[in-house]
Amino acid sequence: MHDALLAPSLLAGDHANLAASAREITALGLPCVHLDIMDGHFVPNLSFGPETLAALRRAGCRLFFDTHLMLSEPNRYVDAFAQAGADRITIHIEPAYDQIGTLLRIRQLKRQAGIALNPATPAAAVEALLAQVDLVLVMTVQPGFGGQAFRPEMLPKIEALAAWRRERNLHFRIEVDGGIDAENAVSCRAAGADVFVVGTSFFRAPDRAAFAAAIARL
Ligand code: DX5
Ligand code: ZN
Repeated sequence: MHDALLAPSLLAGDHANLAASAREITALGLPCVHLDIMDGHFVPNLSFGPETLAALRRAGCRLFFDTHLMLSEPNRYVDAFAQAGADRITIHIEPAYDQIGTLLRIRQLKRQAGIALNPATPAAAVEALLAQVDLVLVMTVQPGFGGQAFRPEMLPKIEALAAWRRERNLHFRIEVDGGIDAENAVSCRAAGADVFVVGTSFFRAPDRAAFAAAIARL
């Protein structure tokens, strides 16, 4: 079983000073930051791009860049994100593009490859890909915006993925993203999740160190 890992989402950080928000993560001794990339097409919002990752690296950020591409054509951008400093690149299964070829390209670029599912997408949509990914991202809100309510009906999807992982002796991580807080993270952990993306509940936590410790104890 993988350790529980907290991946704070910079989407909920200070967009006028993302490097400072990233330093707050580093200061807590956390290894990882989640970076949400939106194209205004696959999701109805815009965020940042590869140049933002590159600028964070230039500013000295050494965190593991867990990069979540909410893009209709992620295949066009994986090289740019790898070049900019992404450590893991997660692409969605829903849009029409060469998903398998893109996962292969990410691994060719020596980055970890992840596949993401929207709330309406069943676990079966990625079943055939499980041996080719380092991570499966289960969206627990409709992607596009931070600050939405967690959808508990996603728990059986996490359980189904965890069961396949066990039965097939695979080692991919299961990441949850959207509306995660210290309480629902417990249910997600019990269902089989091991990476917890947290935007609002992390950056607005009165005591971030205590929040991080609670996730680490899961
Ligand atoms: C939503 C993004 C999430 C978002 C989570 O589309 O994928 O990573 O930052 O934010 P919270 O934790 O506020 O739901
Ligand atoms: Zn995300």
